Amino acid sequence: MTRSYNFCAGPAALPQEVLKKAQEELLDWNAKGLGSVMEMSHRGDEFVAIAEQAEADLRELMTIPAHYKVLFLQGGASMQFAAVPLNLSGKQNEVDYFHTGEWSKKAIAEAKRYAKVNIVASSEAENFSLVPAVSDWRLNPDAAYVHYTPNETIGGLEFHDIPDVGNKPLIADMSSNILSKPMDVSRFGLIYAGAQKNIGPAGLTVVIVDESLLGRALPICPAMLDYKIAADNASMYNTPPTFAWYLAGLVFQWLKAQGGLEAMAIKNQQKSDKLYAAIDYSGFYSNPIALKDRSRMNVPFVLSDAGLDKVFLQEAEQATLFNLKGHRSVGGMRASLYNAVPEAAVDALIDFMQDFEKRYG
Ligand SMILES: Cc1ncc(COP(=O)(O)O)c(C=O)c1O
Repeated sequence: MTRSYNFCAGPAALPQEVLKKAQEELLDWNAKGLGSVMEMSHRGDEFVAIAEQAEADLRELMTIPAHYKVLFLQGGASMQFAAVPLNLSGKQNEVDYFHTGEWSKKAIAEAKRYAKVNIVASSEAENFSLVPAVSDWRLNPDAAYVHYTPNETIGGLEFHDIPDVGNKPLIADMSSNILSKPMDVSRFGLIYAGAQKNIGPAGLTVVIVDESLLGRALPICPAMLDYKIAADNASMYNTPPTFAWYLAGLVFQWLKAQGGLEAMAIKNQQKSDKLYAAIDYSGFYSNPIALKDRSRMNVPFVLSDAGLDKVFLQEAEQATLFNLKGHRSVGGMRASLYNAVPEAAVDALIDFMQDFEKRYG
């Protein structure tokens, strides 16, 4: 079977080897006659082994220090927009947020339901085309934590350095760049990520949290959102998304076989450098983000004539290049280049774009 190239921002392409292994094991996990992972009790020895292996592999890949808990939850990153302030805003109930795009906007709106939000810095006036300069940050000394979105999936903006926020717990919505390169987990109080980009299928949310932040939830925090309850129950306070957890485990094993996050970082840099170079070289395509802040994961671009968008997308599909339509809030195109998108996909996209420009530009 030939596979088309999928540039979807999420749910995104998964490694073909992972899909194949899941297919082989769909009816009978590990050829043991035990049936499908989907049919296993989450409390049985077999599933607990799968779950523990996935956690161990993620810890190894990200070099997660022992004093961090790794939680496998549901509700998507959007549920974490509420869970973070409900767990961590504390008695003072004041929190700091960076505002750098559509996802931080949503995180801020949700946090405002539970806490007093100070905006540390915003690039809204620049149409979210850059990461605010450190000299423009206004941190609130009384804030319980500082939240940011390391990669804005819609705008294609990425913080390439971890913000230095002093001794405040730094909280990151890493949904769209987790596992794309090595990151020093010890710099964070908490990391969360919806799985459906670099981790696995939709339905799973990974939270990595410093143990010292557990047990601070506001009284109104639902049990299902309380990190301490999740940690005390090994993410099995209720039935976890078992099949998604298993698939994430297969992705972690695939990542290890690829050479881990150092290897992914090199590949991701190469892929995005190539595509940005092709965009910048042409007079037909453009990307509005400041060069130093461009995302390696999500590359938005517009055509010089928006009237050609429809035919661009139609012809791209004929060339088996799928899901290039930009987010409805910004229009244009977007190519998402997560770990499972091979360099050959980027080469094929660039060839197509150059050919399209020749014919219509
Ligand atoms: C950076 C970021 N945060 C949050 C979300 C929302 O994730 P979910 O749909 O898992 O709630 C997304 C989804 O694309 C995202 O890219």
